[in-house]
Amino acid sequence: MKKILAMALALCMVFTLCAVASADDVKTYKVGVSIYQFTDNFMTLYRNEIENYFKSLETDTVKYEITMADGKNDMAEQTNQVQNFITQGMDVIILNLVQTSSADAVIDMVVDAGIPLVLINREPLAYDADGNTIDEAYEGILNNPTVCYVGADARQSGTFQGQMVLALDNKGDLNGDGKVSYIMIEGDPENIDAQYRTEFSVKALTDAGVEVEELFDQVGNWDQTKGQELCASALTQFGDKVEVVFCNNDAMALGAATAITAAGRTVGEDIYLYGVDALEEAVQLIKEGEMSGTVLNDAVGQSHAAVDVAVQLLNGEEIQNYYWVDYVMVDKAYAEANY
Ligand code: GAL
Repeated sequence: MKKILAMALALCMVFTLCAVASADDVKTYKVGVSIYQFTDNFMTLYRNEIENYFKSLETDTVKYEITMADGKNDMAEQTNQVQNFITQGMDVIILNLVQTSSADAVIDMVVDAGIPLVLINREPLAYDADGNTIDEAYEGILNNPTVCYVGADARQSGTFQGQMVLALDNKGDLNGDGKVSYIMIEGDPENIDAQYRTEFSVKALTDAGVEVEELFDQVGNWDQTKGQELCASALTQFGDKVEVVFCNNDAMALGAATAITAAGRTVGEDIYLYGVDALEEAVQLIKEGEMSGTVLNDAVGQSHAAVDVAVQLLNGEEIQNYYWVDYVMVDKAYAEANY
């Protein structure tokens, strides 16, 4: 009996020791994430997936403590958040800048604090000697081995929008007057995604020799209500002349779809409507014929790439400065086959 008791006691001690040892072995990394604005539909999918994916990578010995901050579309507020992340001793920071023009200042702050940085979704731009933006990798990122950008090349999304118009039998020229008359509803103009989508959607048409006429080009700031208002006012102003509605994202396209129905127009019959992102609601409208197409902005692929590189940085591994995730064209056939 004594022997059994002694053995039980010994076992207990071993278990206790193991438990203490494993508690000591758990490494918790502190991750600071700041998103330019929580109310943005697409960035909501993106930030939720950052959290889910970090959780899925946790093991018995590695944990991630994530602090998610809302930049509220205010650069001063976001700069404060980054400052707080530094004070709190974050191990890595993931940042969706409110203003890419502030990239240099923020990168310097974070690099000086010795914290690795993953920039997402809003690509900081390179400038030429005259201060104009150019299609070149950004020095603030290239010069820093612990800083990178994860994103998608917005030129591709614009080109896909234009190619979907080209794939129509009438190439978008509904009234047969020899040109495609379009309205453009833009995202935040400081954002390269808005600039490139605006440019490359139309460029795809003109490169293919299609004549175009811009009836209206206004900024809806990625916002559904604004998209609806702008589309409604363009339809009032230009009526049947409007053949194609290009929206820089799906939130604004969802608004435009409402305005199109309210104006008594019918997508696919007397007007075409394109967005970007492939939000669930937009894909549903494409299946029902109320939107002509969208482009998948891969929130899952991009968030996973951002988290993967953050983990590499936490492990002290070498990283690339740029990571690119492809867009995918989503027309009706693709929507029906894949969603
Ligand atoms: C774009 C996306 C928009 C909006 C924007 C924010 O990539 O298509 O819906 O989320 O990013 O920067």
